[in-house]
Amino acid sequence: MNKQKTILDIGLMKQQQEKISVLTAYDYPFAKLMDSAGIDIILIGDSVGSVVSGYDNTLPVTLDEMIYHTRAVVRGSEQALIVTDMPFMSYQISKADARLNAGRLVKEAGAHAVKLEGGEHMAETIRAIVDIDIPVMGHIGLTPQSIHRMGGFKVQGRQEEHARKIIADAKAVEQAGAFSMVLEGIPRDLAKEVTEAVSIPTIGIGAGADCDGQVLVIHDILGLCDKYSPKFVKRYADISEVISQGITDYISEVKAGEFPTLDHSFK
Ligand code: KIV
Repeated sequence: MNKQKTILDIGLMKQQQEKISVLTAYDYPFAKLMDSAGIDIILIGDSVGSVVSGYDNTLPVTLDEMIYHTRAVVRGSEQALIVTDMPFMSYQISKADARLNAGRLVKEAGAHAVKLEGGEHMAETIRAIVDIDIPVMGHIGLTPQSIHRMGGFKVQGRQEEHARKIIADAKAVEQAGAFSMVLEGIPRDLAKEVTEAVSIPTIGIGAGADCDGQVLVIHDILGLCDKYSPKFVKRYADISEVISQGITDYISEVKAGEFPTLDHSFK
């Protein structure tokens, strides 16, 4: 069995210039597959709302749903660091709420760390959670829980003034005590600048190759998502076709009376 990764290992990877691999998972079988393949971090993203529950965005996802999915992932993993998203409204109201809800994700679900969205305005919340010994991964740039403010899923930080704000956000997240941060949907030069400006690892998604690590949604890389696929996604396999074929074959064999055979029956 490989050693369980910690936030210290992840920090060291930046220092040693070893890229950090991160994928989302929401259930036991996927967690088991990516854990045994050697993924560094498994993120139980609130993207579960879009790719598993079929919502248009992540806003409807509840804390209880995140706990349910995190438990399944924890049971399927041995070596990866497990980070769980704090869903919309589980940390925005008060620092006390944020601590309580982060605590539930660790105590009831078994997460090693939590992730929350926001820069300067969330720094005190990050600090409040870190102060009770729960590691926090920040998330800045395109923050999907702010979809209504941003007016859609749009690349952030293209204008100079907005780019400066993202750098200030990154520094605030680092100073608040986060152990790493996601940089989502920002120009690659800006992501490089942020990565060089902070001492904690940056994990990019749609942020170019200069981040310290990369994260993608598992359904996107395996071709399991029939919705719009963003430019930054690379499809490594198309398992929808394999699944569809298996289901079609099953249906036709049942209809034709070819399944089950004696091999699949008891005496
Ligand atoms: O919810 C999620 O899956 C995420 C990643 C894509 C960064 O936040």
